[in-house]
Amino acid sequence: MGQPTPARKDRDWWRTAVIYQVYVRSFADGDGDGTGDLAGVRARLPYLAGLGVDALWFSPWYRSPMTDGGYDVADYRAIDPAFGTLAEAEKLIAEARESGIRTIVDIVPNHVSDRHPWFRAALAAGPGSPERALFHFRPGRGTHGELPPNDWPSQFTGSTEPVWTRLPDGDWYLHLFTPGQPDLNWAHPAVRREHEDILRFWFERGVAGVRIDSAALLAKDPDLPDLASRPHPHPFVDRDELHDVYRSWRRLADAYDGVFVGEVWLPDAERLARYLRPDELHTAFNFSFLSCPWDAPRLRTAIDTTLAEHAPVGAPPTWVLCNHDVTRTVTRYGRADTAFDFGTKAFGTPTDLILGTRRARAAALLSLALPGSVYVYQGEELGLPEAEIPVARIQDPMYHRSDGADPGRDGCRVPLPWVDGMPYAGFSTQDPWLPQPVDWTSYAVDRQQRDPDSMLSLYREAIALRPVFGDASLTWLPAPDGVLAFARAEGAVCVVNLAPTPAVLPAHSRLLLSSGPLDEAGRLPQDTAAWLRV
Ligand code: NOJ
Repeated sequence: MGQPTPARKDRDWWRTAVIYQVYVRSFADGDGDGTGDLAGVRARLPYLAGLGVDALWFSPWYRSPMTDGGYDVADYRAIDPAFGTLAEAEKLIAEARESGIRTIVDIVPNHVSDRHPWFRAALAAGPGSPERALFHFRPGRGTHGELPPNDWPSQFTGSTEPVWTRLPDGDWYLHLFTPGQPDLNWAHPAVRREHEDILRFWFERGVAGVRIDSAALLAKDPDLPDLASRPHPHPFVDRDELHDVYRSWRRLADAYDGVFVGEVWLPDAERLARYLRPDELHTAFNFSFLSCPWDAPRLRTAIDTTLAEHAPVGAPPTWVLCNHDVTRTVTRYGRADTAFDFGTKAFGTPTDLILGTRRARAAALLSLALPGSVYVYQGEELGLPEAEIPVARIQDPMYHRSDGADPGRDGCRVPLPWVDGMPYAGFSTQDPWLPQPVDWTSYAVDRQQRDPDSMLSLYREAIALRPVFGDASLTWLPAPDGVLAFARAEGAVCVVNLAPTPAVLPAHSRLLLSSGPLDEAGRLPQDTAAWLRV
């Protein structure tokens, strides 16, 4: 086989990349209106280059009424005016590339905004029209059509709201998320054509990849049967028809060397791997790792299952600790229940942030040492905790649609702190769209840049050193209970101690990096990770 050529290596960048998720609204505000924007990102490109990331994944930046933070797209070919213009996006893509950073856009194919021209036309055209055939419109049940067409549950966990909304003309339309996000009918050829055109539009603008939102939900059983009466195959999750869609997307992307990452939340690793066959998606987010508690045997099983399921299809795994939908890592790891589950989120959960931060530092070294690509969600590199947003300021529909039972996801979407001592921690000159907690400046980028022991310094060093692990496979090393130890490539080892007893490190020639100090005997304390040259 020999070494891959440089061109081949460059084309395979996504197999080992560190990809940074930018939630534009909360990254940096360039025009001082309290909302992050593309000007803010462009101004901070040196920061991202300094962090050493290979690519940026932008959560949706398209024109949107922001009913669901931009995952309700009114125009897939325009930038939302609050964020900037298409010309600015093109500049940003080019400037990032000049700094060695690729761009990944976020495509939302399952649904559009209710302001999308297709949906406006469908509303105007009335029942039975070809315009309505692009969506799922149905008459209701009951004597007067007053009951929703089926029993499908909302895809916002905790929400008891129906996934159907009735129009004054009597028709109901399907929306697995909010009523502002009508589901498209993927059995309609125009829907497929339009999305392939949207992909081409962004690839032509130089993007290197596409994240696919709700990637396992697009196809629906055409009968729209009740879930209770016909649960298998599931009427809207992980249906076989989907693979044909992704095979044709793959052919299209190959012409641009473009890559996909699918948001595929499936508990069954074998089903997930089907999306990663060589002629389908390149990668998918690893939610089993993200949901896994801070527990050595459970983490080892999650890692082994991931590797075993990816190997036969030849796809690299991804390692994700958090994103814009889930509880921030330092908070999750500082709680009694360190797993992530949408169903158990609650206000006021006791949290030990010192413990959580210590574990999050170790988890950062663990995930950056594993084979595959790694996602870092903005603010994770600063060790930001989940914020408790005053209820009057909560915007997330997950909170509102659960009648306030679910705190929602705004707590992980708070604007970043950039400068210690500045109003709004240097994010903006105005009160940001979500309030920052009072102690936010203690996490500010400039402060962490000056501190060699900060979370930011750890991420920078780890990303810079990560190539020592190469792209070789992983071999577990013998280790005491509660300790994870594995070797990668020639001579690089990662050890993580989750047990209360300090762990003796394997013989090594150099300690490359550790997430915290070793004890006086040179052992690795609890909740600490180390990278070794052996
Ligand atoms: C997944 C996205 O990550 C989430 O933020 C959004 O609410 C849903 N998909 C619906 O688009």
